[in-house]
Amino acid sequence: MTSILSLSSVLLALKLCSGEWCYEGQLSCESECTGPSEWKKSFLQCGGQNQSPINIITRKVKHDPELTSFIFDGHEDIFNMSVENHGQSAHFTLPESVRLRGGGLSATYKAVQFHLHWGKDDGQGSEHSVDGERYPMELHIVHIKEKYNNLNMALNDSTGVAALGFFFEVSSEQNKNLDKIIEALGKVKHEGNSSEIEDFRLADIIPQANTLSYYRYSGSLTTPGCDQSVVWTVFQQTLPISKTQLTSMYKQVLFATEKPMTGIFRPVQDLNGRVVYTSVKSHCLCVLPNLIALFLCLFCVFGQQRCFH
Ligand SMILES: *[C@@H]1O[C@H](CO)[C@@H](O)[C@H](O)[C@H]1NC(C)=O
Ligand SMILES: *[C@@H]1O[C@H](CO)[C@@H](O)[C@H](O)[C@H]1NC(C)=O
Ligand SMILES: *[C@@H]1O[C@H](CO)[C@@H](O)[C@H](O)[C@H]1NC(C)=O
Ligand SMILES: [Zn+2]
Repeated sequence: MTSILSLSSVLLALKLCSGEWCYEGQLSCESECTGPSEWKKSFLQCGGQNQSPINIITRKVKHDPELTSFIFDGHEDIFNMSVENHGQSAHFTLPESVRLRGGGLSATYKAVQFHLHWGKDDGQGSEHSVDGERYPMELHIVHIKEKYNNLNMALNDSTGVAALGFFFEVSSEQNKNLDKIIEALGKVKHEGNSSEIEDFRLADIIPQANTLSYYRYSGSLTTPGCDQSVVWTVFQQTLPISKTQLTSMYKQVLFATEKPMTGIFRPVQDLNGRVVYTSVKSHCLCVLPNLIALFLCLFCVFGQQRCFH
């Protein structure tokens, strides 16, 4: 009897092991983990129609006048924040006093945590891409509707979670405001390690809400269970980080397997007919490549202002 029990627990352990999910870069001959293309076998929702991340095609985005400025509450507050290595990323826990409203959202949301997605030396690390281009890193700030006590409850609601995504772009100057984050990551090298950042302020890394324009679509968590409960906001403004800082981000942290934690992003998913909306009038997207386009763009912005005043 005991031998049957222990045999079945060994089998159960094996099953759990091989079912563990991982990123594409972690797949190898000796690893038994489940890569992104197989997630849906263990986590049904990962095969759904509203998955994230996506590639944003700027030519196809639609302007939505309801997408007004956000109101960020608590971004000026100074607090102590814990950071923990969860094996596939490091989570920075945010206090509930950090809140999100406006921005075309139907409710007020409260912050839960933020985390980063990065790549390795090739500079491809963001989850979302814009016109096929990946940025080197992407910050996700996860919020849930005020009325829910925890993330699990919010995942039961198709708009229960509001996630903010910021891309990082390599700059020649160091971004001193990231130093506390980089230092903290150095203290959570192994899965389960946690540490604390003292006197942190979100406003030091996130620009003011009224300066931000963004894309909006309905999607999912980008890690299993891939719950389709997320109102996604991806900002057009990027945050700066130096090459050295970027490297020290991903050189310090290890996966649960003790291998360097690199390539922590999911490949982009099919839109399946979803529309990506923008807070900016689409013909005013100043991403056009040449000088003539720049003039047209300025003309357009100027023209739009005249209409408003
Ligand atoms: C942060 O932690 C330090 C050291 O433990 C403590 O002195 C300080 O009061 C804490 N600050 C806040 C805002 O809780
Ligand atoms: C999810 O929603 C259903 C229906 O609204 C409800 O019955 C269930 O208790 C909810 N589950 C959780 C975990 O909140
Ligand atoms: C970090 O985790 C490793 C592996 O679990 C453990 O050996 C080590 O003591 C932890 N370090 C700290 C500072 O908690
Ligand atoms: Zn994320």
